[in-house]
Amino acid sequence: MPAIETTRLSKWYGVHRGIEDISLSVESGEVYGFLGPNGAGKTTLIRTLLDFLHPTAGSATVLGLDSHRDRIEIRRRIGNLAGDFSYDPKRTGRELLSLIARLRGVTDMAYAETLAERFNADLDRPLGQLSRGNRQKIGLLQALFHKPDLLILDEPTGGLDPLMQEEFMVVVSERRERGCTVFISSHELDEVQRMCDRAGIIRDGRLIAVEDIGELMKKSDRRVSFKLADPVIDPGEFRELEGVEDFTADGPEVSFTHRGRIDPVIKRLARHTVLELDLTHPSIEELFLAYYVDDPAGSDGDGEVPR
Ligand SMILES: Nc1ncnc2c1ncn2[C@@H]1O[C@H](COP(=O)(O)OP(=O)(O)O)[C@@H](O)[C@H]1O
Ligand SMILES: [Mg+2]
Repeated sequence: MPAIETTRLSKWYGVHRGIEDISLSVESGEVYGFLGPNGAGKTTLIRTLLDFLHPTAGSATVLGLDSHRDRIEIRRRIGNLAGDFSYDPKRTGRELLSLIARLRGVTDMAYAETLAERFNADLDRPLGQLSRGNRQKIGLLQALFHKPDLLILDEPTGGLDPLMQEEFMVVVSERRERGCTVFISSHELDEVQRMCDRAGIIRDGRLIAVEDIGELMKKSDRRVSFKLADPVIDPGEFRELEGVEDFTADGPEVSFTHRGRIDPVIKRLARHTVLELDLTHPSIEELFLAYYVDDPAGSDGDGEVPR
């Protein structure tokens, strides 16, 4: 049973399109990135899933439950962080958490305390006095502290500093190891690449592609560059390896793009004294850029921008 399934889900705001005809399926246990630029429809889909918005057409299930009929049970069983995490500004984080704990029937606050420490969250100041990033931490805590089977997070790292973003990614991978399914919207490709197993790409309210991140990275070229202790006497030694392209050698410094098994490259390198070695994949940004840029009018079709 998929953790989330939508069938031709559409939401129009009067004449304005929010999302249109979205059919997607999130497998139990996966981390699914819902990726798209601002205004693409990410928040609309999430709010519709949680029955904060009523679909104009189509339907959705969450943990096998009907998104509308079973909304109360769904909201109790999952962890959700809304894009516009709202709060009573006079309440402290601790007060908010204990209120939510009561609603969910949770008594054990140990994980909440652990997370608060890890995120360096201030539970004792009124939320209205916290900076955006520090409020976001409280938002994450309330989504996570009851260890739900499913997390639905709308741009969760917005406002977090880089150190806390890292910590958040660690927490997500820990939850995943415990079998938690994570649905996470983002407009940041890099974040999706690092956290997610699959990504659905949304643009102008439509799901335009679903990609397995690992497969995508495997298929993609890597950039290899290294520096040897001695100048390369026979550049062909590397240039002729299978999968090598865009080869350049400058004295002891060599770089090229490479596709395929890396092992032969490493074995060849091992004949030399290697001072430096860099292996980089193109960012997912480069791979997905095609989905973001508009299809140039009169494209010859090789651009393959999915519609
Ligand atoms: N309350 C609303 N009334 C009218 N249009 C809306 C409303 N909320 C969102 N939209 C429109 O729906 C589209 C998707 O918005 P949204 O789901 O917030 O995108 P995202 O979360 O990906 O940035 C946008 O074009 C936005 O202008
Ligand atoms: Mg949004």
